[in-house]
Amino acid sequence: MNNVDEEYISYITEFAKSDAVKEMKKYVQHGDTSTYEHCLNVSYYSYKVAKKLGLNAKQCAIGGLLHDLFLYDWHDKDRDGKKEFFLPHGFTHGVVAERNARKYFNIDEICSDIIITHMFPLTIWKVPKYKESYVVLMVDKYLSTAEVFTRKRKRTMIPGVEF
Ligand SMILES: [Fe+2]
Ligand SMILES: [Fe+2]
Repeated sequence: MNNVDEEYISYITEFAKSDAVKEMKKYVQHGDTSTYEHCLNVSYYSYKVAKKLGLNAKQCAIGGLLHDLFLYDWHDKDRDGKKEFFLPHGFTHGVVAERNARKYFNIDEICSDIIITHMFPLTIWKVPKYKESYVVLMVDKYLSTAEVFTRKRKRTMIPGVEF
């Protein structure tokens, strides 16, 4: 394909091929967008923004892909009895996603911070430490809003990446 961003693809391939990341295809994130699609979009656009700003684009790509690796349907209030936090999903899923990311992959400190703090300022107990974390949390908020209000066929997709 002409438009494939080879550098981006090289950063995420190992993760995108894993069963843990593929499991996100099962869950709806917003509107008609799966958690998998949402995470790929956040990953790619965070990578692009980080490149423009001269930040760590690789960690933004990986952190963006794993930021919602909580692996449950967050619309399901009971979560099959698996609910372990008193606070609602918005406050806690970054912690769950980061724990899963460490369980399945070798992630670095920047990536870990990106995932845990991506719901800041809801994560008032943990302020983002890195500029890369702010990139991902802003892209996540922007795309989450777009996913709620925009139909799939009108959304920008990542060149060369199949959902
Ligand atoms: Fe999230
Ligand atoms: Fe998200």
